[in-house]
Amino acid sequence: MHSPAMDHISMLAMAGSQRRRSFNGALLRAALERAPAGVVCREFDPSCLPFYDGDVEAAGDPDTVAELKTAVHAADLVLLVTPEYNAGLPAVLKNAVDWGSRPPRPQAWDGKPVAIMGATPGRLGTALAQRALRESLTGLNAHVMPQPRILLGGAGTLFDEDLSLTDAATAERLDKFMAAAAEWARRFR
Ligand SMILES: Cc1cc2nc3c(=O)[nH]c(=O)nc-3n(C[C@H](O)[C@H](O)[C@H](O)COP(=O)(O)O)c2cc1C
Repeated sequence: MHSPAMDHISMLAMAGSQRRRSFNGALLRAALERAPAGVVCREFDPSCLPFYDGDVEAAGDPDTVAELKTAVHAADLVLLVTPEYNAGLPAVLKNAVDWGSRPPRPQAWDGKPVAIMGATPGRLGTALAQRALRESLTGLNAHVMPQPRILLGGAGTLFDEDLSLTDAATAERLDKFMAAAAEWARRFR
């Protein structure tokens, strides 16, 4: 029997660190492994984008920028996994937000369901980075999932040498987060 609730959700996932041993990259991979049935995931590497520059834009979107805009437009849900740099979000992720906010209208974030998470070895779990990211996206009329939240502090203790998630409590929270994110996306279809 066809049920709208079972329709697939296409999810675009981006991490704000391309560091080889990035905790946020590891968190993103753990989250994708826990995506519920019916969620089709695709990753986008924001470090492929040039830094936003109005002159570059005026000459026509570079291919990677066009790819970002198309991918965000096409996604039912965007998952952003952010490190915290100096109480804010890393430039590479903000840059993706900025390019996505540019014409043609409607810009890519307008009305887009977004889920945010982040990891840090520090204690506050990227609270400030997530707040800054949430604020930018809300200003762009994205629908940022309010709850549950994943603010992963002490990240150095939660993954093994291969950066696989070993902490059972975090795994359980991720399961719930990913299920909630899929439901969040379905609300806006
Ligand atoms: C420039 C810089 C600033 C940082 N500022 C913060 C910060 O404000 N809060 C925090 O929890 N961690 C901060 N850190 C530590 C990062 O959380 C840590 O390097 C983390 O591992 C980066 O994410 P990644 O593992 O995904 O690369 C900072 C790191 C760098 C390089």
